[in-house]
Amino acid sequence: MTARHRVTLIPGDGIGPEVSAAARLVLDTAVPAIQWVERMAGSAALAEHGDLLPEETLEAIRTSRVAIKGPITTPVGSGFRSINVALRQGLDLFAAVRPARSLPGVPTRHGAVDLVVIRENTEDLYQGVEFAAGSPQADAFREELRRLASFEIRRDAGVTVKPISVAGTKRIVRFAFEYAKANRRARITLGHKAGIMPTSDGLFLRTATEEQIDRGDVSFEDMQIDHLTARLVREPGRFDVLLLPNLYGDILSDLCAGLVGGLGLIPGANIGWEYAVFEPVHGSAPDIAGRGVANPIAMILSGAMMLRHLGEKVGASAVEAAVDAVLSGSEVRTPDLGGTSATMEVAEAIADAIAS
Ligand code: NAI
Ligand code: MG
Repeated sequence: MTARHRVTLIPGDGIGPEVSAAARLVLDTAVPAIQWVERMAGSAALAEHGDLLPEETLEAIRTSRVAIKGPITTPVGSGFRSINVALRQGLDLFAAVRPARSLPGVPTRHGAVDLVVIRENTEDLYQGVEFAAGSPQADAFREELRRLASFEIRRDAGVTVKPISVAGTKRIVRFAFEYAKANRRARITLGHKAGIMPTSDGLFLRTATEEQIDRGDVSFEDMQIDHLTARLVREPGRFDVLLLPNLYGDILSDLCAGLVGGLGLIPGANIGWEYAVFEPVHGSAPDIAGRGVANPIAMILSGAMMLRHLGEKVGASAVEAAVDAVLSGSEVRTPDLGGTSATMEVAEAIADAIAS
């Protein structure tokens, strides 16, 4: 069959290659018309190309426009910038979309959770504006703050800057409403700490509230982020779409994953005007890497989101239905869900469910 879709595949590291192989098996079964272009990023790329994010990897994504990637380790305290953050900024993938829904056969504290986190992906404390404690830049920054507004920062403080812009907010707000309308979502809840940070979170809230856009039937509310977090763990069924600045979006994505059974289940998409990169919410899980027991479902469901983005609606629904069928109708599941199956056994069961 001739390939109708060209997709860049970045296996990543840690459990990345394991869940990538699993997802590829399932996606090839659902939609045989995918031409895979495999490229490296992270430690494997550093070993081979001397670069954590080689230009040929970025070029492959710019050519195919669509990519799927496994997680990539960011060594803590190494001075390396996160490859994931660099990729999102380099390709201007400004919207992260992370659906968390209760899955059949996965018992959790709350039934009937069906949430989508929409996270601004390029600004906020993730923009990478950092001054290390004791550095000449931090000293100059302290001087400048003293001059500008008589602020005193301790001499031994490290600093991370939190920029949130009107333009950056407008596009994520528009994206969230378009998403909600297209996916028949009823409500958007914006999380913020505008009382404490009026110039960043406050701007996010004001811009979203005042932006003139066609809201269709989608209702809109805002909530202080701390209050929102408490309500989310008590009554997650009350919420629908959560619209969040970058850092809160990161934290609440994992919280939502916890609500529906863990990180092994939650897919994600990073979307910009030109490119889209699909990836699970979870990281490289070094504690279980190389053992063949990682849960591939988050990566497989990321693949289903990618199929829908490519216009392969039937294939996408087939993958999602097969995941539900395996979880509800069999004992096949990885240890994080209380089972004893291997990563590839889960993938094979899902592929079989699609084929049958
Ligand atoms: P993590 O998500 O890798 O692991 C947290 C816990 O969840 C671990 O106990 C792990 O075993 C478990 N877990 C995660 N995914 C699983 C799966 N598919 N199946 C079964 N269990 C799973 O988060 P952690 O440990 O904070 O980060 C590890 C590395 O991953 C770090 O270097 C971090 O920077 C990186 N990371 C990369 C991301 C990406 O590439 N998009 C996203 C998040 C973290
Ligand atoms: Mg995260």
